[in-house]
Amino acid sequence: MNVLLVSRGATHHGGHDAIHRLAAAAAEATGVPVRACFLDGAEPSLHAALDAVPAQGEVLLVATHVPPDRYLDTWIRRAVAHWRTTRDRQTRILVAAPLAAQPALVTAVTDAITGDHTTVDGNPGPFRSPAWSQITRHRRHVLVCRGPRCTAYGAEHVAAALGKRLTEHGLGDDDVLVTATGCLFPCNLGPLVVVYPDDIWYEHVDADLAVRIADEHLRDGMPVDGRRPRDS
Ligand code: FES
Repeated sequence: MNVLLVSRGATHHGGHDAIHRLAAAAAEATGVPVRACFLDGAEPSLHAALDAVPAQGEVLLVATHVPPDRYLDTWIRRAVAHWRTTRDRQTRILVAAPLAAQPALVTAVTDAITGDHTTVDGNPGPFRSPAWSQITRHRRHVLVCRGPRCTAYGAEHVAAALGKRLTEHGLGDDDVLVTATGCLFPCNLGPLVVVYPDDIWYEHVDADLAVRIADEHLRDGMPVDGRRPRDS
């Protein structure tokens, strides 16, 4: 039997090598071939890893959700530092070693390899649905920054308020396509909301401004407070 540890590559930058090391340790502990592969964002892909397995062989897929994430390791400290400067609290905050560095993780993967398995079957329809060929005919595309600084400044409340208001107005993806993004760069102006094709960047957005953006700009077509495109 071959074993593949399947991880997300797109969301765990800097953690790929650790998954390969985990696979090597699990292979040594179990005595069976164990390789790492990625659903997205890194190589080898799941497809490529499956291609490399003997055609008549057996493959056990182990969804592996805990790669280390250097972005997270770095940003968790910066976020805590920001939290400290914005709260009057004496809380002592410690950071644990990454889960991927814990020997127990190898034990957990070993148990998954040697435990009960279920056969993968079914049809590939959901992977290639015709729906995934259609570009929505939205009038506006709204980017809601969910990067680490905007998140620290309250972006989750912005996203929730915006989504709730758009739903109340019956504005779905065909009217207003809302996409959560990573950092858009002018972090000091966050939380940020950007509306295209108008190219209007809303700064320091809170839940109240998010509601006004939904009402005045996205429903009525008038940018809040008459804001103009960023370059004018
Ligand atoms: S985190 Fe939002 S602009 Fe950087």
